Amino acid sequence: MTRINNESIQFKFPEDFWWGSSASATQTEGAADLDGKGKNIWDHWFEIEANRFFDGVGPQDTSQFYYKYKEDIQLMKEIGHNSFRLSISWSRLFPEGKGEMNEKAVEFYNNVIDALIAAEIEPFVNLYHFDMPLALQETGGWNNRETVDAYEKYAETCFSLFGDRVKKWFTHNEPIVPVEGGYLYDFHYPNEVNFRKAVQVAYHTILSSAKAIKIYKSMKLDGKIGIILNLTPSYPRSQHPADLKASVLCDAFFNRSFLDPSVKGTFPTELVDILKEEGYLPVIEDGDLAIINENTVDLLGVNYYQPRRVKAKDNLPNPDSPFMPDRYFDNYIMPGRKMNVYRGWEIYEKGVYDILINLKENYGNIECFISENGMGVEGEERFRNEDGMIEDDYRIDFISEHLKWVHKALLEGSNVKGYHLWTFMDNWSWSNAYKNRYGFVSVNLDKDNERTVKKSGYWFKDVAANNGF
Ligand code: NOJ
Repeated sequence: MTRINNESIQFKFPEDFWWGSSASATQTEGAADLDGKGKNIWDHWFEIEANRFFDGVGPQDTSQFYYKYKEDIQLMKEIGHNSFRLSISWSRLFPEGKGEMNEKAVEFYNNVIDALIAAEIEPFVNLYHFDMPLALQETGGWNNRETVDAYEKYAETCFSLFGDRVKKWFTHNEPIVPVEGGYLYDFHYPNEVNFRKAVQVAYHTILSSAKAIKIYKSMKLDGKIGIILNLTPSYPRSQHPADLKASVLCDAFFNRSFLDPSVKGTFPTELVDILKEEGYLPVIEDGDLAIINENTVDLLGVNYYQPRRVKAKDNLPNPDSPFMPDRYFDNYIMPGRKMNVYRGWEIYEKGVYDILINLKENYGNIECFISENGMGVEGEERFRNEDGMIEDDYRIDFISEHLKWVHKALLEGSNVKGYHLWTFMDNWSWSNAYKNRYGFVSVNLDKDNERTVKKSGYWFKDVAANNGF
C-alpha cells in the first residue's frame, strides 16, 4: 500500500488539527428497545411503514455500537482519530422525552465517553440528531413549544452528567433536515407537508438551541458549545439579476435561516420579509428574540456534501405550492458537473472553501470545523479485494480533494480547526438504511456486523499521523 512519507507532504495542517469522524446514536447503536430505551420517531415509523426503508432494515439493528463500542473505539485509535462525534439518544436517556431518566443510558454514555478519553480521542457530543422521542412527537414534536422545555431539561441533564469530560457540545445536527423531511418533502416522520408547521418547527429548533447555549454558559463548564449545520453554497446559473436574486433567496432559506441566528443572533431580512409578506411568520413569545440574540455559538460544525445550483423560475410560481421556497427559485443540473457515480450526487470540492471563506468574511471568522463530509457508495462490496479489504480509492480521492481546499482556506486565514469524515463505520442512513456505505470501516450485516478497515481508513491514519498528505 502507498504510505505517505514525511518529505512528500504537500498539504500540512496545524499540529492540533482535529482528525476524526462523526456518527449518530440512532444510526449506529442498535439495541433500540434494550435497557429501557424509549421509542423515538424512527422506531415508530419503521413499525408502521417498514416498506419505506431500504431492504426493510430498521433502526433496531444499526451497527451494534451499543455492544461493540470498545472494539470500535480501538479501531478509531488504530486509524488515527484524535476526536470523534457521537450523539446522545434522547429517548435512551429519557424514554418518554421528559420525566424519569434511564440510569442504564447514563452508564452507557459514561462508558463510551470514558473509553474515548482513555484512547486519547476527544468526544464531541451532539444532543439532537433527528431522533425525537415518540412521546413528544405525539404531542406535536418541535411544533409544540413544550418540546423546547423538555429539550432544555434534556440538555441541562447531559451537561451536568457529562460536561466534566466533554468539552465540545453541539445542540443540533443539520436542524433544517427534520424541517424538510418531516414537514415538507416526506422523508422523515411525521411526513406532513405543511409550510406553516415547517416554519414553526424551524423556529422552535433555533430557540431550543439558544436556550441550551444559555444553560450551558450559566453552568460555567470549561468547554465550548456550538451547532452543526449542513451548508450548501448556492451558485446562480448566470449573472443575470433574476438568477442572482434566486440564489440569494435559496441561500436565505436553506443556509442563513439557521446560520444567521446561530452565529449572529439575527434572522436574514430577505427571509423575514418573505414570511411576513406571505403571512407565515412563526409564533414568537416575548423575550425569545433576545434569548436568540444573546446566545450564539462558540463553535460551528460544517457538514458539506454538495452545492445547490440555482436559477430563477422559468414559469410563474404556483401560488398554491405548499412549499414556499419553490415559489422563489428552481434548482437545476449544471451541465458537465462532476458526479459521485456511486450515489448520484454532485461533487464540487471548492464548495468547502467557499463556505469557509464566507464564514471568515461574513461571520466573524467563527471557529469552525468540517463536521461531516463524505461519499456514499452503493454496492461497495464489489471493491473488496482478495484479502478482504475494500479498496475505496475513490473515497481517498474525495477526501484529499476536499482537504486541499480546506488547506487553501486555512492559508487564507480561515479559523477551521478540523476535519471529520461521515462516517467512522458504515451505518444506517435513515430510510436508505444500508444502501449507501460511507465509512472508513465496513460493516458486514451478515456476519455479526463484523468490522473491516477500508483502504481509506489506513490512508487516513497516515494523514492524521503526518498532519497532512
Ligand atoms: C447528514 C446527517 O447528519 C447524517 O445523519 C446522514 O446519514 C449523512 N448526512 C449522510 O447523508
